[in-house]
Amino acid sequence: MKALKKSLLIFLAIGLLLTFAALAGCTPAAPTDDGAAAQSGGSAEADAAGDGAEAAQPLTASQIADGSYEINTTSSSSMFRIVKCVLNVAGDTMTATMTLSSDGYDKLYAGTGEEALADSAGNCIPAVLDSEGAYTFTLPLQALNTDTDCAAWSVRKQKWYDRVLVFLSDAIPEDALQGK
Ligand code: HEM
Repeated sequence: MKALKKSLLIFLAIGLLLTFAALAGCTPAAPTDDGAAAQSGGSAEADAAGDGAEAAQPLTASQIADGSYEINTTSSSSMFRIVKCVLNVAGDTMTATMTLSSDGYDKLYAGTGEEALADSAGNCIPAVLDSEGAYTFTLPLQALNTDTDCAAWSVRKQKWYDRVLVFLSDAIPEDALQGK
């Protein structure tokens, strides 16, 4: 009976600890890169980019045929997970429409969090819900295969988080990269 009580107590204590960890937004396997950009790649998308990705040169809209392409991305943080990204190229401009893995962020900024704070709210990029209710954001892009600063506003923490994203050209068909 005593042994049963003891194991019940241990069970309860573990339960309490886990609840605490969950409320704090932290689990034992928690990544520590929640703040500024720390590491690059690591996502399935980055792995899919293959070995050639590092060597890829920056590409601007004028080097890509107009159209929409599903592309791969990397994110500096596992706390900013892009599950789908569509590149839209039109003339000299291009945008990336990203679907995020959660509704944790409700606006983005094309720059750093510091720049976002200094800018007007109207220059932020609001979340747009897709047909499945997932959060999407359309970010203007200067170039592919190069670091792109992006700040994401956490609904829960009510603050900007700096992320560094790379939009990769590796999934774009070769014939679309022959220039216009
Ligand atoms: C010490 C531990 C952790 C801290 C401090 C932390 C903190 C944060 C913060 C501040 C955000 C921004 C959005 C929000 O506030 O909801 C976030 C997003 C997120 N976190 Fe964590 N987190 C931790 C652990 C984890 C773990 C262990 C996982 C999953 C295994 C995880 C998965 C996510 C996901 C999926 C997002 C949303 C990303 C997106 O929508 O693209 N986090 N986290």
